[in-house]
Amino acid sequence: MEGRTPAQSASTVTPVMQLVHANSAGFIHGGEIMKLVDTTAGVASMRHCNGRVVTVEVDSLTFLAPVHIGELVTLNAVDTQAWRSSMEVEVDVWREDPRTGDREQTTTAYLTMVAVDARGRPVPVPPLNADTEDDVRRQRAADVRREERIRIRKRIEDEARS
Ligand SMILES: CC(C)(COP(=O)(O)OP(=O)(O)OC[C@H]1O[C@@H](n2cnc3c(N)ncnc32)[C@H](O)[C@@H]1OP(=O)(O)O)[C@@H](O)C(=O)NCCC(=O)NCCS
Repeated sequence: MEGRTPAQSASTVTPVMQLVHANSAGFIHGGEIMKLVDTTAGVASMRHCNGRVVTVEVDSLTFLAPVHIGELVTLNAVDTQAWRSSMEVEVDVWREDPRTGDREQTTTAYLTMVAVDARGRPVPVPPLNADTEDDVRRQRAADVRREERIRIRKRIEDEARS
């Protein structure tokens, strides 16, 4: 299977956040941001594998700052690593005040997406070919996060059995 670089599947989405997306405090609801994060990660991973994907895990979704009604939100998604059937995608979210041009990063998240066939069974994905130093750094960090996820899952299973 021919590999692809992160740049070939990187995706950007820029929705305008409106009243319907807000909570009672006047900020955009965290769940709205999470949905957009999931959608954008889906686009980047579908572009990488040219097929259907499902989200299997959301890892360390951190809200750094709120988004206000009327602000622009930009979501940048990049595939950080591809294993057998799973891919990790980093999504960074930025808010922008269209009146002043002020920009600030509000959210970072890592999602694991799995390529599936029409019956929902995992299928192999192409390798991710690192093209830049940043790609290599992200790929190494993704391997560390995957090892940690597997270690934690195993430890919880062992605890449950004991
Ligand atoms: C994702 C899914 C197809 C995996 O099925 P499975 O029977 O666990 O398949 P496997 O054990 O072969 O795992 C497939 C891959 O998923 C990864 N995976 C499974 N569970 C995971 C988890 N909790 N976190 C991270 N990766 C996970 C495995 O490591 C494996 O990766 P690899 O092939 O790159 O090594 C299945 O769990 C599923 O359908 N989940 C529901 C997805 C969904 O409905 N999402 C919300 C809507 S999109």
